[in-house]
Amino acid sequence: MTLIGNDVIELVTAASLTDDLRQDVFRGLSMRPKTLSSKFFYDKWGSELFDRICELPEYYLTRTERSIMRTNIDAIAGALGPRCLIVEFGSGASTKTTFLLDHLVDPVGYVPIDIARHHLEQSAARLAKRYPDVDVMPICADFHQDLPIPEPRRLQESTVVFFPGSTIGNLQEQEARRFLDRIADTTGPRGGLLIGIDLKKPREIVVPAYDDAAGVTAEFNLNLLARINRDLGADFKLDQFRHEAVWNEGQSRMEMNLVSLYDQDVQIEDRTFRFREGERTRTEYSHKYTRGHFQRIASSYLTEAAWTDPREWFCVLLLRPRTQEASEA
Ligand SMILES: C[S@@+](CC[C@H](N)C(=O)[O-])C[C@H]1O[C@@H](n2cnc3c(N)ncnc32)[C@H](O)[C@@H]1O
Repeated sequence: MTLIGNDVIELVTAASLTDDLRQDVFRGLSMRPKTLSSKFFYDKWGSELFDRICELPEYYLTRTERSIMRTNIDAIAGALGPRCLIVEFGSGASTKTTFLLDHLVDPVGYVPIDIARHHLEQSAARLAKRYPDVDVMPICADFHQDLPIPEPRRLQESTVVFFPGSTIGNLQEQEARRFLDRIADTTGPRGGLLIGIDLKKPREIVVPAYDDAAGVTAEFNLNLLARINRDLGADFKLDQFRHEAVWNEGQSRMEMNLVSLYDQDVQIEDRTFRFREGERTRTEYSHKYTRGHFQRIASSYLTEAAWTDPREWFCVLLLRPRTQEASEA
């Protein structure tokens, strides 16, 4: 199934995504505390809001990761080598990838994988036009599912998974560990994982990144309820919930919640869910790591290189899967 250009390999369809949303919402709102999965933030409007968040003064993550890549791009491109197949999980607007592809030596293919179809199509079309010699093969999928990676027309020398943006931080520790183990199967022993992680830093810096003065992150968070209203015919009243971003020191993570302002019932299809005044619904975790902690989570890899910024706020790592022999040694 080699589709080249703008054709999207569709492992998630609009109908299957709505079924998945329904299951997630019914299960999550029956739990204590109530939870909703962050992967559903990214409908068309949610993806646009996320792109705006990336440019906010408080959202240091994107700016810092970009500056690390700019400063170290020659070393990064040298370490990845020529004729790579780049596979990106949660590719979004693919802006960091554009910078990477601009500097790699003769990359043969690019496989952006994202659950947000509209954004995926747009960025894949833009990249296919910009790089006529690179096979752009977008996959609309949940990156937790089994993903057959398509073959580019020219044989790659290595497969490199690109996972920027500290998206790994949205997963809880066991989930992140399993996810990284699976990625190692995608890269194979000769490939690598180029990953961006957000490092632990004072809460005064972290909290505003998830609670900006302009209220864009609040709109992004509340848009999840608007999506449930639209896709499942629910009757959430958005002005009866507020956005909350709190730092959890024990778990070293940001937690985003939607807090009910009143006692209220919400109807979703044939189910009614009760929200108490002040009750929180968890919508996202963003873990912040020390280098040592992340290395323990990524224990199926050896760190070949780590690039950081002068303040050590963010880190881009090149990891190689441990071979059987290396892990036994
Ligand atoms: C934090 S954004 C990062 C975007 C981009 N990689 C960057 O560094 O700016 C997360 C991206 O992952 C996608 N995403 C989140 N959960 C996903 C999932 N389970 N499967 C596939 N894509 C997912 C979102 O649609 C979004 O584009």
